[in-house]
Amino acid sequence: MREKLDLLQQKRAEAELGGGADRIKTQHDKGKMTARERLEALLDPGSLVELDRFVTHRATDFGLADEKYLGDGVVTGHGRIDGRLVYVFSQDFTVFGGSLSEAHAEKVCKVMDLALKTGAPVIGLNDSGGARIQEGVVSLGGYADIFLRNTLASGVIPQISAILGPCAGGAVYSPAITDFVFMVRGISYMFVTGPSVVKTVTHEEVDFEGLGGADVHGAKSGVAHFVHDSEREALSAIRTLLSYLPPNNLDDPPVRPATDPPDRSDEELLDIVPDSPTKPYDMRDVIRHVVDDRDFFEVHRDFAGNLLVGFARLGGRPVGVIANQPAVLAGVLDIDASLKGARFIRFCDAFNVPLVTFEDVPGFLPGVAQEHGGIIKHGAKLLFAYCEATVPKLTVITRKAYGGAYDVMNSKHVRGDYNVAWPTAEIAVMGPKGAVEILYKNEATEEREAEYREKFAHPYLAAARGYVDDIIDPRDTRLRLIEALTTLATKRDRNPPKKHGNIPL
Ligand code: HXC
Repeated sequence: MREKLDLLQQKRAEAELGGGADRIKTQHDKGKMTARERLEALLDPGSLVELDRFVTHRATDFGLADEKYLGDGVVTGHGRIDGRLVYVFSQDFTVFGGSLSEAHAEKVCKVMDLALKTGAPVIGLNDSGGARIQEGVVSLGGYADIFLRNTLASGVIPQISAILGPCAGGAVYSPAITDFVFMVRGISYMFVTGPSVVKTVTHEEVDFEGLGGADVHGAKSGVAHFVHDSEREALSAIRTLLSYLPPNNLDDPPVRPATDPPDRSDEELLDIVPDSPTKPYDMRDVIRHVVDDRDFFEVHRDFAGNLLVGFARLGGRPVGVIANQPAVLAGVLDIDASLKGARFIRFCDAFNVPLVTFEDVPGFLPGVAQEHGGIIKHGAKLLFAYCEATVPKLTVITRKAYGGAYDVMNSKHVRGDYNVAWPTAEIAVMGPKGAVEILYKNEATEEREAEYREKFAHPYLAAARGYVDDIIDPRDTRLRLIEALTTLATKRDRNPPKKHGNIPL
């Protein structure tokens, strides 16, 4: 027995070395952690239960019969985050560049299947050169097996991806289907084809960073929801994100005992919205003064800054916040903001996270670029997402609620459950200046504008119709929202039975 145990220890140690000490050193020299170091940083200490550590590939071409590594380039298993079960896979770049073989894919599929069966989140730490070139179509099949599982698990368990290396080809499409993508500056790259292929096909000269670096995907393409300066920071942020989420779509998000008094009245909320309707302000200030402990965990911070989305707690209950940002483009809705908002709303709705909307929106962004870019279909995504959501839906109109954007931003008409306005709210078809210019053309005057403002640019007409449930003292916003959330905790609503809706993609 003892001899056999020695062999077991030896094999375990071999598996832990992945592609060997030299390649581990290269990984460290690039400023990157190894697959196992990452899991240690991500999970509660000592909680990793590894599966399939003795799996090897079955390929024989290109001399691979003699080049096998235990585990075959991915560490898989389950562990705990804040004591809660999660399934994980962490690709090991020291083994064939973390590339995906048939056996590697089977390991990933096994943990995905277990995550789905047990109703636990799955977290993928990706560091992979894509399909293992030596295995050909078998590795493509492996990717497709993963894509199918990603899709079937979507909306059932949270799926989180960290990109921690140069991820190409299939290695980017699985993360793209998951709910949240984390990237790290200087380490993470995502592209369908790398710079050399780009040069051959389109003759464009671009480097890794410019083509698919963390800032490109965090700010331009919107593929990355979170961008961090270090791997440890990114892994710690994944832990924070999970603290807002239920383990699956049948559970509610975890409620924490609130340390911030629910009835805390906030005097500073009286001074954030400027007297002039054309002056900008930072909606983050409003959000922070309202939510528990001023804690707003922002998603997509560098993308479409005219709309803010993120998680917070109210009275200890997690909520998803969507807010127009008057400090960027006056808070107007454009293509990127619509995509950002729609995806976030649908995630929250799938996972029973109530939605809180802070509204100050002058309308949709006009212009040829937006029209030709498809603002009609993209703006419709945001509208569709709000309309179909059945979680508790709360709205606070701080200032402008104009035009179609009034309808879209969780109005009463699209099943808002508790809609309130501050006394500074202006709820109308359009702003006074635009309105008189259309109504009176060349005869538009300042007096007529003032007349329109007095008649329409306030919340009382909407309140008279019941389109807002109340006009509130801004200082009481927190209390009112917490009361509403408590009341709505047992809300039940559903959409007509169907296979699935046809969101305008
Ligand atoms: C097998 C691979 C590999 C791959 C890298 N390696 N990618 N082995 N299959 N796809 C191996 C290298 O041979 C090398 O082995 C080790 O991993 C490290 O790679 P390097 O090139 O030395 O590292 P680096 O310079 O950091 O470059 C990393 C890289 C580059 C950018 C990922 O290796 C690369 O471009 N790889 C190919 C990417 C690609 O085209 N993949 C196929 C995509 S098609 P040694 O033994 O020297 O350590 C695809 C189809 C699915 O994925 C599509 C589904 C929709």
